[in-house]
Amino acid sequence: MSLFITFEGIDGSGKSTQARLLAASLDARLTREPGGSPGAEEIRRLLVQGDAARWSAETEILLFTAARRDHLERTILPALRAGEVVVCDRFADSTRVYQGTRGTDGAGLRAKVDMLHAAMIGIEPDLTFIIDTDPATALARGQARGGAEDRFESLGLAFQQALRTGFLALAADHPDRLCVIDGNRPPEVIAQEVAQRARAALSGGSDGRT
Ligand SMILES: Nc1ncnc2c1ncn2[C@@H]1O[C@H](COP(=O)(O)OP(=O)(O)OP(=O)(O)O)[C@@H](O)[C@H]1O
Ligand SMILES: [Mg+2]
Repeated sequence: MSLFITFEGIDGSGKSTQARLLAASLDARLTREPGGSPGAEEIRRLLVQGDAARWSAETEILLFTAARRDHLERTILPALRAGEVVVCDRFADSTRVYQGTRGTDGAGLRAKVDMLHAAMIGIEPDLTFIIDTDPATALARGQARGGAEDRFESLGLAFQQALRTGFLALAADHPDRLCVIDGNRPPEVIAQEVAQRARAALSGGSDGRT
């Protein structure tokens, strides 16, 4: 049975760790955003590297949507149609929360994100895990890892705190799809809870999404 599962949360919260563990446990197709297809990986470099002020929030929404459309056409939809389970590290909820938190017109930007999503993407995951980790801990983890992909982390702790609030609000708005997972625990403990809920969703049980 095909199922589309995504991981969301603030920078350094543990999404990639959990996405990898779940994909291995379910023998699923693991993919990520921005990226996940050759064209979208090229766009990724424009988005995650360089100065925080490199793009306006509006331009960013267009770039993320372009990358997502390519990823959807070339990777996600073909895999789902072939009956695979797809595990994706970030998807549209990140755009809703990050771009809705950026700039001075968050509410207006969120409306534009929703408009573009409806026109160009049109699908939602079956199940989304929000890895909810203390922002200071998560930021320290991300910075300790280093690397060039720090454009959003460079916006600082207050931004990460605002993002966390945004993810929790989104989860409260869509309790059927979004599942908040306490990320302040050892990776293997988190993975066990995630796998249990994902398997429940796969077998059609409703408690996978509560
Ligand atoms: N539950 C955990 N407890 C302690 N450390 C963790 C935990 N989960 C992940 N880490 C470590 O924290 C760092 C960030 O984890 P990971 O890359 O999974 O987060 P992420 O949410 O994907 O980050 P980013 O938003 O930057 O992609 C890594 O070094 C990882 O090994
Ligand atoms: Mg990651």
